[in-house]
Amino acid sequence: MSARMAAAVLRRFGGPEVLRVERVDEPGCPEGASLVDVSLAGVNFDDLEHRRGAEPELPLPAVLGVDVVGRRRRDGRRVVALLRRGGGYARVAAAVDAHSVPVPDDVDDAQAVALFEQGATAYGALRLAGRVQAGESVVVTSAAGGVGHLAVQLAVALGAKPVIGVASTAEKRAVVAELGADAVLAPDEVGELRAVTGGRGADLVIDGNGGEQVKAALRGLAPFGRLVSYGWRGGAPGCGWTGVSTEELVDGSIGVAGFWMRHVVDDRVLLTGIADALFDLARRGSLTARIDRVVPLSGVGAAHAAFAARRTIGKVLVDVREVG
Ligand SMILES: NC(=O)c1ccc[n+]([C@@H]2O[C@H](COP(=O)([O-])OP(=O)(O)OC[C@H]3O[C@@H](n4cnc5c(N)ncnc54)[C@H](OP(=O)(O)O)[C@@H]3O)[C@@H](O)[C@H]2O)c1
Repeated sequence: MSARMAAAVLRRFGGPEVLRVERVDEPGCPEGASLVDVSLAGVNFDDLEHRRGAEPELPLPAVLGVDVVGRRRRDGRRVVALLRRGGGYARVAAAVDAHSVPVPDDVDDAQAVALFEQGATAYGALRLAGRVQAGESVVVTSAAGGVGHLAVQLAVALGAKPVIGVASTAEKRAVVAELGADAVLAPDEVGELRAVTGGRGADLVIDGNGGEQVKAALRGLAPFGRLVSYGWRGGAPGCGWTGVSTEELVDGSIGVAGFWMRHVVDDRVLLTGIADALFDLARRGSLTARIDRVVPLSGVGAAHAAFAARRTIGKVLVDVREVG
């Protein structure tokens, strides 16, 4: 008989209330994977989409949650892991070994899991897709979000200047300024990028939302400037479409690129290299994840609601050891 564990289970698609704590069988352990005794799991935007039943629809029942930290049973090592098929909102997760990395002793669980998915996304958008250089001006939209608040710190650490954050509320903008941004704008001020950069325009903009901010940012790019998209808000009208024409690309000598973590996760050398770089910056005090809240398993639905309402600043975590 399988051992049992607590998990937040999705039995039907719907609002945050459909996530219920249950006792279920521990997962099996496929070839190339290891069971991890999870301590903390992250909440991600994709979890909200899956909960709502947005494409691609998950087979039910399902356990959501795509990033975890915990102790690997087979060797007792503390690892962070990305779970392509979910399963993170549970006491035990089956993690593909190639998608897990060891956590250094001096990086705590909350920092490790908050830095991994969101930090690697920020790193990938800035460096791999954005090819940022020291001295370039960088704009980070949604700069108080899980990815954004790490991107601001990374851009500063990589020598970008000025680093300009964009955030929707005064509270968020104050946090972004504390993170080291040289200037902080409200979303409706993105059209003023040229003024903020002394008339030149921005060298690099990274964005995870799409929509009007992206269109305005494109108009504010400097010659040879790049816009990197790493996400969009499902359902928001026009959010997945920038409407940029090849004529505009040529006229401005600008570039548009995308970044998806899938291409890092599938490349072991890249994945471990980025994790090492992130943990190293964390150890040196140049990168600190802001933990918005840590909820017990029974609080996952409320955490989803806060996330969707844009009330969170930084990373939202679930302590799966606490049922609540
Ligand atoms: N490409 C990849 O591999 C990858 C990996 C991880 C995440 N992502 C994507 O990156 C984006 C950001 O992820 P995250 O973890 O940083 O999320 P997050 O913590 O929720 O931050 C996203 C920010 O988006 C802004 N926002 C604008 N419209 C929103 C809306 N309708 N609902 C909620 N927030 C809205 C909010 O900032 P303001 O209130 O300041 O506008 C919020 O702080 C998501 O689209 C996610 O899917 C992509």
